[in-house]
This record gives sequence, C-alpha cells and structure tokens, in this order.
Amino acid sequence: MSHAWRPVFVVLAVIVAILVMRMILVPHDFAAKNGDYKYQWHRLSAETTSKDFTVKYKGKEFCQQCHPDLVDKINASGHQNIQCENCHVMVESAKKSHPIDLKGDFGYLLDIGIDRSRELCKRCHAELSYRPQTYVMTKGTVKETVKFKQIDPTKHNAGIECVMCHDVHTAGFKAAGK
Ligand code: HEC
Ligand code: HEC
Ligand code: HEC
Ligand code: HEC
Repeated sequence: MSHAWRPVFVVLAVIVAILVMRMILVPHDFAAKNGDYKYQWHRLSAETTSKDFTVKYKGKEFCQQCHPDLVDKINASGHQNIQCENCHVMVESAKKSHPIDLKGDFGYLLDIGIDRSRELCKRCHAELSYRPQTYVMTKGTVKETVKFKQIDPTKHNAGIECVMCHDVHTAGFKAAGK
C-alpha cells in the first residue's frame, strides 16, 4: 500500500471521531421545530425546563391584590419603577413579618418584612463616584431622564433613620406628627 494512504486514514479517523463525539454530546432532542424562534435549533425539552422553573419574584401586580392603595401611591411617586420586593424581601427569614402566609396560600417563596434602616436607602441613594448622575424613569411607554438624587450619608442627617422624615411610598415627606 502506498504511503500516500496514511494521511487519508488520519483524516477518516478524525471524521469518525467527530461524528462519535457529536452523537455523545448533542442532546437527543436537539432539533429545529416547535416554537417561534429566529433560529429554530434548540433542545426541545428546554421549553419544559423553562416552564417548570419556579418564579421567585412576582412584581407589584402580585402585591396589588391586597395592597392596591400602596401600589397606587408608589406608581404616582418617584419610586414608581421600584418593585415592592426590592425593599421588602428579607434575606434573613427571621426578619419576616408578613401577617399572611403567602407561602401556603400562593406558593410565594420569599420572606416579606420591613427594613427601616438607613442601609436600605443608602443602597440606592448614597453618593458614589461610580453611580450614574441621571436615572431613566419609565412612565408607561414614555421614558424620562431625571436627576438621580443622591445624598452623602455622613452629612445628610447622620444617625437618624431616613423614614423618620421621608415617606418611602410617596418618595416625599411624612406629615408632622405621623
Ligand atoms: C393575600 C393578601 C396579601 C398579599 C398578596 C400581600 N399582602 Fe402584604 N399584607 C396583607 C395584610 C392583610 C397585611 C396586614 C395589614 C396591612 O399592614 O396592610 C399585610 C401587611 C404587609 C406588610 C407590613 C408587615 C409588617 O411588618 O407590619 C408589608 C411590608 C407587606 N404586607 C408587603 C407585601 C408585599 C411586598 C407583597 C407582595 C410581594 C404583599 N405584601 C402581598 C395582605 C397581603
Ligand atoms: C424604596 C423601598 C420601598 C418600596 C419600593 C416599597 N416599600 Fe413598603 N415600606 C418600606 C419601608 C422603609 C417601610 C417602613 C416605613 C416607615 O416606617 O415609615 C415600608 C412599609 C410598608 C408597609 C407597612 C405599612 C405602611 O404603610 O407603612 C406596607 C404594608 C408596605 N410597605 C407595602 C409595600 C408595597 C405593597 C409596596 C409595593 C407597592 C411597597 N411597600 C414598596 C420600603 C419600601
Ligand atoms: C432600589 C433602589 C432604591 C431604594 C432602595 C430607595 N430608593 Fe429612593 N429612589 C430611587 C429611584 C430610582 C428614584 C428616582 C430617581 C430620583 O428621583 O432620584 C428615587 C427617588 C427618591 C426620592 C426623590 C423623589 C422625587 O420625586 O424627587 C426620594 C426623596 C427618595 N427616593 C427617598 C428614598 C428613601 C428615604 C429610601 C429608603 C427608605 C429610598 N428612597 C430607597 C431608588 C431607590
Ligand atoms: C431629619 C430629617 C431627614 C432625615 C433623617 C433624612 N432626610 Fe433626606 N431630606 C430631608 C430634607 C428636609 C430634604 C430636602 C432638603 C435637602 O435636600 O436637604 C431631604 C432630601 C433628600 C433627598 C433629595 C436630595 C435632592 O438632591 O433633591 C434624598 C434622595 C434624601 N433626602 C434621601 C435621604 C436618605 C437616603 C436618608 C437616610 C440615609 C435621609 N434622606 C434622611 C430630611 C431628612
């Protein structure tokens, strides 16, 4: 046999190896059908995987069924783009204080409570050199660029809880005596 065949065998071996690898690595249900996708190729069972994924965060529509007044208030305020859960989900379950068992009745997975610390507000309002100076507020379909109001927490009423003066749901001020 001519020595010229040797590289041909190598090439054939590589092709066979690629085909075998493809059989092992590509999921059996990888196909181009089902679904309104630009590139149809996908693992078909990925659709069920996504559907079965448990949603943790529910947004203010979920809270609205029982707290419609607060959702209205927030929607009319500077905090209209902030979800209730952004401030009310407690990382430590011991801080949970919600009177209704949302877990049992609604399959809700998070712990709702109240954080009145300065830390909560500083997360978004403390002056930081890398924080953008403007904020894009989405009002329905309209986008409006506003100043992102930031304070220096070491100078702005240090030591007093922000919620002593500010009404967080209206993003305005509390009336005297409240
Ligand atoms: C099935 C009705 C229901 C749903 C849904 C619900 N709540 Fe409540 N929640 C209540 C009731 C009733 C109270 C007690 C009365 C009150 O403070 O308005 C309460 C109280 C609270 C309190 C005060 C807790 C405290 O320590 O005093 C917070 C904060 C709260 N809810 C946030 C939320 C958020 C955020 C959501 C959405 C993720 C939500 N709730 C969804 C019914 C509900
Ligand atoms: C920017 C943070 C923030 C957002 C957003 C927010 N809350 Fe609150 N919420 C607080 C804080 C802080 C308190 C405690 C206020 C105080 O003591 O003055 C509070 C108090 C409450 C209370 C106790 C009763 C009351 O009215 O003070 C309820 C109920 C409540 N929030 C529900 C909601 C719901 C429902 C939403 C979404 C529509 C929401 N909150 C959005 C921070 C927030
Ligand atoms: C998750 C981020 C976030 C948290 C937490 C948060 N804010 Fe805001 N806040 C915003 C954004 C975004 C705006 C809209 C841009 C602006 O006006 O600065 C805003 C607006 C405001 C305004 C200006 C309202 C206006 O109409 O001019 C005040 C005052 C304010 N927040 C106070 C607070 C206080 C007090 C707390 C804590 C109890 C708090 N915020 C917590 C994001 C946050
Ligand atoms: C003793 C009352 C008091 C406390 C406590 C307080 N503030 Fe204020 N805050 C005010 C007053 C009054 C103004 C309006 C005048 C000014 O800008 O100083 C204001 C203004 C603001 C503004 C708007 C600034 C702007 O550029 O228009 C933000 C944001 C704010 N506060 C956030 C906070 C945060 C966050 C905390 C807690 C870390 C806090 N405040 C604690 C009274 C208070």
